[in-house]
Amino acid sequence: MADPDKEIAKLRAEIEKHDRLYYKDAQPTIDDQAYDRLKAELAALEAANPSFDFAESPTKSVGDDRLEAFESYRHRVPMLSLDNTYNREELIEFGKRLEKRFPEQTLNYLVEPKIDGVAVSLTYENGQFIRAVSRGNGAEGDDISQNVRHIAGLPEQIETAPEILEVRGEIYMLHEEFERINAVREAEGQPLYANPRNLAAGTIKLLDSAEAHNRKLDIVLYGVGACEPARYFSHQAEIHKRLKSWGFPVLEKIWITDSIECAWSSIEELDTLRQKFTYPTDGAVVKLDDFRLQDEAGFTSKAPRWAISFKFEAERAETLLKEISLQIGRTGAVTPVAILEPVQLAGTTVSRATLHNEDEIRRKDIRPGDTVLVQKAGEIIPQILGVVTSKRPADSQPFNFGQHIKDLGIEAERDPDGAAWRIVSKDDPIRQQRALQHFASRVCMDIENLGSAVVEQLVSRGLAKNIADLYELTKEQLLDLEKFADKSAQNLLEALQASKQRELWQLIHGLGIPHVGKQSAKDLEANFESLEQLATATEEQLEAVDGIGSIMAQSIHAWFGDETNRVLIDRLQSHGLNLTSKRSSSTDGALAGKIFVLTGSLPTLTRGEASKLIEAAGGRTSSSVSKKTDYVIAGEASGSKYDKAIKLGITILNEDTLKSLLSSES
Ligand code: IVH
Repeated sequence: MADPDKEIAKLRAEIEKHDRLYYKDAQPTIDDQAYDRLKAELAALEAANPSFDFAESPTKSVGDDRLEAFESYRHRVPMLSLDNTYNREELIEFGKRLEKRFPEQTLNYLVEPKIDGVAVSLTYENGQFIRAVSRGNGAEGDDISQNVRHIAGLPEQIETAPEILEVRGEIYMLHEEFERINAVREAEGQPLYANPRNLAAGTIKLLDSAEAHNRKLDIVLYGVGACEPARYFSHQAEIHKRLKSWGFPVLEKIWITDSIECAWSSIEELDTLRQKFTYPTDGAVVKLDDFRLQDEAGFTSKAPRWAISFKFEAERAETLLKEISLQIGRTGAVTPVAILEPVQLAGTTVSRATLHNEDEIRRKDIRPGDTVLVQKAGEIIPQILGVVTSKRPADSQPFNFGQHIKDLGIEAERDPDGAAWRIVSKDDPIRQQRALQHFASRVCMDIENLGSAVVEQLVSRGLAKNIADLYELTKEQLLDLEKFADKSAQNLLEALQASKQRELWQLIHGLGIPHVGKQSAKDLEANFESLEQLATATEEQLEAVDGIGSIMAQSIHAWFGDETNRVLIDRLQSHGLNLTSKRSSSTDGALAGKIFVLTGSLPTLTRGEASKLIEAAGGRTSSSVSKKTDYVIAGEASGSKYDKAIKLGITILNEDTLKSLLSSES
């Protein structure tokens, strides 16, 4: 065997590198299982070489997420990690050890879902939220209150609370939000986030809190650290009940079992149920329920002896990579996508996987015709972990991304300061097509009868190069298109005519300004009365809008600074498109022109229902509170928006007062 000193030093360095990538950069390059294997290998080597000094070893600590830009706080009760297992035998052994330790007792085990999020500790003093702190190194973490306190459903205040309470849980991101953010990044040619956990971890550590507020995070709480006075709980099961009665979002299901075998059955049940949970669940945590027994069992240097985590295996399979196809975003970004021989994974059929960019393909040396290992762990977008090189065809050649783009007749260039390729020319027909499709789509101008097949023909025949050209189409031109008759031509012309009256935000979104999505477009409309006002806004004015960060402000400013875009807007105006906010001119309805912000959950209406009622009465909704907000509708567990409304002296309504305002319509 190699020199154990060297082996240990090498493994430690390797693990420390992965700790850094996971905890500090939120960009892990290996999955949990591979990481756990490295740690197990190191632990075995250390055990075989007890003379080795391992006080500082990563096997004895919990990683560290702290960053310099944040203020550090010491947890009153440290946040420890858990021992992991991937198999039933080790779980049963864990139970047997405890049974041996407590031979006289019936041991109750609690089985909880293990949430794949980012650990957080919330401090409440006399029932008032004080701060949110990341796990850090377990003893001390970063103050992330700025990015956490606005999370929907997190109570600002709790009733009949102890003087000091540290509530522990996980911050996570819903799959749909993860996909929304990645779709924007894909369109911009920026590298995609691998999974919701990394994105949640990156988001809580953003210094640009406007950007952090743009991304929706969620939270679930399952434990308590410090509690003073300490008389509050004697069992873990009680904590769940108590957290729920305080109004915290809690675990959807827990199991109380009286043997480790029953705990195992519950884990199997959890595995079948977890797909339906709102939060991503990557395993189970089994805990002794009774705190007296927990205290007696005690801790190792990094983990309790009274709990263990069981991790479900990520689902993987081998399949054939048939080809690498290219997706082109509305701003011309070219993203490679793997087209796979369909394979069943984690209950779904996977036939595509993201390849991120040229560098990723090169790093993993992925080639069409390769057999690849694909992973989809329910919550993770399908990923290619690597190539099964033993199954590679003999005549296989490395994949040349630039050449592939050329062969497909796409005229793209690689960003000088990034890994993305982009179609630079605005005259490129594919780019024109994408821009028109985006403009016509339901979330933008909602132009019926203008699907991708029609757009393709319009562009290839030179009838429409940009969005203003659409409004100059004649019936004769349309009748010339394939599958067009009098009726369909008439329908499209009418749909185009109708689109002239869309809301201002729909137009702003439809312009395809890099980084500006649907919500940002709405936020912009809530702050600028017309496209002209938006076009002439300075970067500072744009950045002052809640929800608009510096990158977006720069992008908007640059877009309107481009002469071609100014000409485009003049043409839209001459065709009679609505370029002003209806909220300023609307005189119909009880709430005409009023801007509302919804926060917290209302007793009977969902947010969507409340927005619809407001809009039907001529009002508008915005996602953030500013001086221009007229009313804030606050429900249960409303957070920072409520505080801001108070600060700005904005009228706060509840559901009842909103309803009476609505019915005051004459
Ligand atoms: S209890 C001292 N319960 O997993 C024990 N942890 O791998 C504290 N986690 O640090 C942890 N779901 O960040 C506990 N139901 C759950 C959990 C959970 C997720 C996280 C937590 C912990 C890590 C350990």
